[in-house]
Amino acid sequence: MNEMATATQIQVTTPPMVGGREPLIGHARKFMSDPVNFLMDCYREYGEIFRLRLGNREHVVMLGPEFNKFFFAQTDKLLSIREGYPFFLKMFSKDFYFFAPHDDYMMQREIVMPRFKGNAMRSYVSLMAQETEDLAEELGESGEFDLIPTLGPLVMNIAAHAFLGSDFRGKLNDGFFDDFRDFSGGMEVIWPLWMPLPHLRKSRAARKKLNGILSKWVDYRIENPMDPPDFFQDLIGAKLSNGEPLSRELIINIILLLVWAGHETTAGQISWALIDLLQHPDYLNTVRAQTDSTMGDRPFGEMGWEDARALTNIEIAVKESERLHPVAYVLMRKAQEDLEVGGYRIPKGTYLFAAPAVSHRMPDVFPDPHAYKPSRFAPGTGEGTAETNRLIGFGGGLHRCAGVNFARLEMKIILTMLARRYDMELIDAPRPISGTMTHWPAQPCRVRYSARSDSDRAHDKQRAAALESLQPATVITSAEDPFTISEDDDGAGKTGGCPFHGG
Ligand code: HEM
Repeated sequence: MNEMATATQIQVTTPPMVGGREPLIGHARKFMSDPVNFLMDCYREYGEIFRLRLGNREHVVMLGPEFNKFFFAQTDKLLSIREGYPFFLKMFSKDFYFFAPHDDYMMQREIVMPRFKGNAMRSYVSLMAQETEDLAEELGESGEFDLIPTLGPLVMNIAAHAFLGSDFRGKLNDGFFDDFRDFSGGMEVIWPLWMPLPHLRKSRAARKKLNGILSKWVDYRIENPMDPPDFFQDLIGAKLSNGEPLSRELIINIILLLVWAGHETTAGQISWALIDLLQHPDYLNTVRAQTDSTMGDRPFGEMGWEDARALTNIEIAVKESERLHPVAYVLMRKAQEDLEVGGYRIPKGTYLFAAPAVSHRMPDVFPDPHAYKPSRFAPGTGEGTAETNRLIGFGGGLHRCAGVNFARLEMKIILTMLARRYDMELIDAPRPISGTMTHWPAQPCRVRYSARSDSDRAHDKQRAAALESLQPATVITSAEDPFTISEDDDGAGKTGGCPFHGG
């Protein structure tokens, strides 16, 4: 593909327009009721690039590694991320993060990224394990739980614990999770944001309430500083690279962003990962076997960074679920100029979608794309060695998810612990949520569980021994795995073509 050029004097056509447009609303009805299947059908009919209308806005959907490369490389150049997500402006503020002028964004990013590296990452292992132990205490020996209402608050507790402190976590109740759910309702992709829609009103009210809670927490911590400082205390004392301290509004926005981004997506992604494991019990047993060989008889509370890194079977399973069910199923940008890409003209002002949910199921990128095969991400396999621009559930380029390593780490720890402790089976047939929100499994999606016995654990040990002697390729060691979370990997800028990291 001719990667990209501006459209000056090039006689090219616009990408094909998807059929079945309705007056005024365009394709909004189909898109809103089932966006992933709608885009998948369009891909089958029109190929890797096509146009559609959502209300009065024209969108171009581009799919596959080459277009993904363009999409991420041109972000903040020919493509604007800030104009791609106009609803975020209402949820946050115009001088915050990627809505801010580029230099300000880079300064704010410098404050956030170290929280996801080195010792900070190491420190999260025990709190993630502890929070999961607490959930298991609540669950007891047997019963039923619904995935989102159970795992959602768990990842929220982990985010609040990690970013606001153990003292804040101690005061937390379920209302905080519900407030963030209401806040998420502000993600409106179809209707104009000035419309008095109930979910937009609810989102603004939740924002106001969360703002009040977090502002009081800043006051509390200024008067009662945590020593040694934790994440939140560091933030209060931090300075931007221009020497200015962080304003109260900036501190609140950073925390809102991290807690919101940290639970909204992870709750859905981990639910899909557990569903996939429960639907593939043989693979689940390889996860248990590796847990056994890594942890032996040590309790989970003793899990350390090296243990977490060694759990590579669950790591590739989490990637396979990210491929099959990316909760951020579309990413958005707006063209800042007329473009020519892949032989097509895209006029300035067009909205662009990259669609992980469809790109991840292209057979020439991931053979047998609808099958659950974690081993495709094993090192040394053709598919596993080139994640860049292919596995894009966490985005790519400069704006790749800041919390990718945090999210992958917590998903690994929670899933491993639940699998070791419980036998589980799905009660309800899983299906995705309808509508355009983050692509969670619809509720209810209940799991019946009962504590595993000593003899179950003895089987894990036997399996661990058998796997190690018979199928060394199935149990992957961290030394072999190039994708294992690294304590210094900030997770960002890994995708080829990032405008600020080259490629
Ligand atoms: C499974 C869980 C998660 C998924 C699937 C996910 C997905 C994404 C995606 C796709 C983007 C890029 C959006 C774009 O390019 O348009 C992104 C950005 C971001 N994510 Fe995540 N995310 C997850 C968890 C987290 C966590 C745990 C945090 C923080 C604690 C986080 C913080 C962020 C931030 C701050 C950005 C903006 C990065 C920037 O523009 O510099 N995310 N995420």
